[in-house]
Amino acid sequence: MKKQIAPSILSADFSKLGEEIRAVEKAGADVIHVDIMDGHFVPNLTMGPPIVKSLRKITTLPLDCHLMIENPEDFILPFKEAGADWISVHVEACDLSKVLPMIKKLGCKAGAVINPPTPLEKLFPFCQYADFILVMTVNPGFGGQAIVEGTLEKIATLKKYLVSKNLNIPIEVDGGVKAENIAAFAKAGADIFVSGSGIFKTPDYARTIQQMRQTV
Ligand code: DX5
Ligand code: ZN
Repeated sequence: MKKQIAPSILSADFSKLGEEIRAVEKAGADVIHVDIMDGHFVPNLTMGPPIVKSLRKITTLPLDCHLMIENPEDFILPFKEAGADWISVHVEACDLSKVLPMIKKLGCKAGAVINPPTPLEKLFPFCQYADFILVMTVNPGFGGQAIVEGTLEKIATLKKYLVSKNLNIPIEVDGGVKAENIAAFAKAGADIFVSGSGIFKTPDYARTIQQMRQTV
């Protein structure tokens, strides 16, 4: 499976978001990760479909919309219509057996997300519905946090489970990923690497992404 680097625009300079996206695209990003927060499911607010619609006009890269919101089923269609390519929803927020098929039916890739405190057993029954699984390695809500202990082992356990069930589903990781530690995530079994501060807070995006790509 091709390893993919997904800069999270949460750590970009929002006063020049268009330029920031063009810069990471030019620097070799594979996917643009867009963090959607509602102030309820997580204690922070970010953006909604109008921003995604604007981003759609300036990049051809897949837009990976990570919905950290309550009642995500109410927002699948608006995000799809705004131009989302991938939409991921939390196992803590909805019935994945209903929402993942809803996402796929609209032609988007459907992601199942799990938070650090949630045991993998809660996710296992729904893996079959997912095009990818997003393992949070920080508690969602903010960029620039340190990795929660035990989450690398969680990726490895999930990977083993998927292999044992013959499920060829990529694992995305989100939270605390940097060029210096990305190897550990790859070793644990991750395929798609979200990185916010690990890219946008570095001086040379191309150099950082190249370094990440060489490491994984
Ligand atoms: C956190 C978000 C992440 C965030 C990661 O709730 O889901 O995508 O941007 O930021 P870093 O890479 O700085 O930990
Ligand atoms: Zn995210």
